[in-house]
Amino acid sequence: MTELKKKEKIGTPDTADRQSGAVMVVGGGIAGIQSSLDLADSGFKVYLLERTPAIGGTMAQLDKTFPTNDCAMCVISPKLVGSGRHLNIDLITNAELMGIEGDAGNFTVKVKRHPRYVDSEKCTGCGACVQNCPVSRIIYAVELDEVELERKDLDIVMPLLEDSAGTRGSLMPVLQAIDRHYGYLPKDVIRFISGKLDVSISEIYNIATFYNSFSLVPKGRHRISICMGTTCYVKGAEKIMQKLCRDLGTEPGGTTEDLRFSVEAARCIGCCSLAPAIMVNDRVYGRVKLSDLSGILKEYE
Ligand code: FES
Repeated sequence: MTELKKKEKIGTPDTADRQSGAVMVVGGGIAGIQSSLDLADSGFKVYLLERTPAIGGTMAQLDKTFPTNDCAMCVISPKLVGSGRHLNIDLITNAELMGIEGDAGNFTVKVKRHPRYVDSEKCTGCGACVQNCPVSRIIYAVELDEVELERKDLDIVMPLLEDSAGTRGSLMPVLQAIDRHYGYLPKDVIRFISGKLDVSISEIYNIATFYNSFSLVPKGRHRISICMGTTCYVKGAEKIMQKLCRDLGTEPGGTTEDLRFSVEAARCIGCCSLAPAIMVNDRVYGRVKLSDLSGILKEYE
């Protein structure tokens, strides 16, 4: 628990009128960021408090904004950068407001900072610590001893690694080839190639979980992607998702028991004029109606 030092108090009793000109904004979503920028531009010292490790909130996770269909990141990115660089704004992230005392113009707040395990003064967000984490390297070494691929898997994986000449830059094509062959990235194969390419497991998981095209669990032979982008959503994509999942007995992100179909939500697939749109493997179906679904599924039986 940290009590902000006297000079950081929201309001100082030393000032003649007991008004300080410092403000704390709680919540680093788009509203909190914009409020902080407006206040800071007006000359107030702003402490922007955010519970999660980074500001941005839900809007930073959106594709488009309603009703203008503007790109969410295009709107919020300049504000994120602006609030990070503004001399009048102090970002206090990964922290919670625990108490507040005083009255208008002279508040003292108690803030609980959660540990970050890195020196935030020095961190540039480069990710090198993840790749060189001594803890994960120990786990990686221990796990590596246990990895023994079956002959049939070795016959598939070794030629891929030989083609790549064992270089780090070849990780992506190797992962793509493995995903193509197995339909997902099996855990043992990931551990095996991490040793062969000398790339840490955490780095491979970083990539595997960043790209939607990779999966860590078995996928169906046919991948059905239902576009949940703004245009498709307002044209009924959610109902399509519900009906499809009901018909196939699975859920969004799931795979049917016979491993025939996987169903996943996608962001705008670039066919907004055909909304609502779905993709099965590489084929796009536009202006899909609920009554079309059984016919589409039959094509892949
Ligand atoms: S929003 Fe669905 S294709 Fe663009």
